[in-house]
Amino acid sequence: MPCCYVLDLRLVPAHVSPHSYVYSLLRELGPDESLRAWTPDDPTLLMAQIQHQMRHKLVWSSVFDQTGWLITMRIRNADEPLPLADTLRRNHEQMDGRLVQAFTYLGCRDWRAAVGEVASLDVALRTHIVTENELLAPLGGASVAEATAIMRREHDDVLVQLEMIAEVCASSVENCQELETWLGLLAASLNKHEHREESLLFPRWMRVLMQLPSRNELLTEVRSRLDEGMLRSLSVPQIH
Ligand SMILES: [Fe+2]
Ligand SMILES: [Fe+2]
Repeated sequence: MPCCYVLDLRLVPAHVSPHSYVYSLLRELGPDESLRAWTPDDPTLLMAQIQHQMRHKLVWSSVFDQTGWLITMRIRNADEPLPLADTLRRNHEQMDGRLVQAFTYLGCRDWRAAVGEVASLDVALRTHIVTENELLAPLGGASVAEATAIMRREHDDVLVQLEMIAEVCASSVENCQELETWLGLLAASLNKHEHREESLLFPRWMRVLMQLPSRNELLTEVRSRLDEGMLRSLSVPQIH
């Protein structure tokens, strides 16, 4: 479908959220089809919500024209690889999902399932941290030196939290409440950490990556490490 008109988001019916409205239109599109929309408000949050719901099948960009933002959205082809930022965001979401699942199990007092979920999260999260530290932090440079230093410190804090959580998981169901408390602390740490990375570091890493002659090799290495981490996390032995 050629992209021939622009949807003005101010005209979305009042009882429908712009997010739901745009999502309902995008769901009808096939691979490589596009939609354009205009909004007077910064679309970053709106598009993050839609992208999450579309499971990163969307390629989007926006242009500011002094009065508002023109957003161009396109449905990614199935064989089209995710760019770096989407690859990392998707990995964040997968880990956040694990954490939510662990809370759900704890809420049902299903200790074994919760501990199994936490063990899977541990593998995926450690892989993610090592990948960011080793492959991506060096892309930062002076302009994001402080954000990079904070990222590394937060990684160290998260690793300490994972050690504490592993200790609690090695105990018994009597410590259900304690595990819930530690997971709550981890969730708060990750929430702040992921937001900082996504807003400050990912755009910088993307820009630097574009200039690198070895960008394809680096991107492939990042993807394969994260994919391998998720695969290994799925095969963590569960308690029976
Ligand atoms: Fe990180
Ligand atoms: Fe991250």
